[in-house]
Amino acid sequence: MHSDAPDQLDASGKAASSNIEVSRRVALTAGSAILAAAALPTPSSAQTPAAARAVFGQSFALSTNVNGVDVEAEIDTRTSLLDLLRERLALTGAKKGCDHGQCGACAVHVDGRRVASCLTLAAKVHDRKVLTIEGVSDGDRLHPMQQAFVEHDALQCGYCTPGQIMSAIACVREGNATSKERIREYMSGNICRCGAYKGIVAAIEDAAAKMGRS
Ligand code: FES
Ligand code: FES
Repeated sequence: MHSDAPDQLDASGKAASSNIEVSRRVALTAGSAILAAAALPTPSSAQTPAAARAVFGQSFALSTNVNGVDVEAEIDTRTSLLDLLRERLALTGAKKGCDHGQCGACAVHVDGRRVASCLTLAAKVHDRKVLTIEGVSDGDRLHPMQQAFVEHDALQCGYCTPGQIMSAIACVREGNATSKERIREYMSGNICRCGAYKGIVAAIEDAAAKMGRS
């Protein structure tokens, strides 16, 4: 409203731009802090934005297990699981397609459940087990789902494929591979820009039979 604007201005206009800068910093700090807030103590309302930044920027001694390997790492509390995997552990199978939980390219399992690693704080997997696409095969022997993707030509460029396969395995394990419709519904969060959906559904049906659960 027009009447609100003068409240932020002083006579010189200098303080106004300063206020705007402060507001921007507060907004940016708040945005960065949203993901961290679930796992971290919330700063009291009496704390200044600077104090809040100090709290949210602290480090965390992470102890977890990735693909059967124990991992100890000192991380910034704001680190996403996807960044931990890709940038600290060099596990680049999970892809950063959107970084907003909308494409499924970053799907991994945490304690056997599918998660979007871009929306999961690394600190949330403390003392838990993470499985990525790099850990699903048995040495040189492909997982039945990987084999089915090959046999049904369920990929073209392959960018979405690690996330598709991690979701597909979870689809079967969670008992959602009982029909094409149910598979499509469960897999609807995994986007394929190449449109390999027909092969993906066929691969899941095939692998479900081989995995002994559908
Ligand atoms: S990168 Fe995580 S859902 Fe797209
Ligand atoms: S195979 Fe290219 S994005 Fe899915």
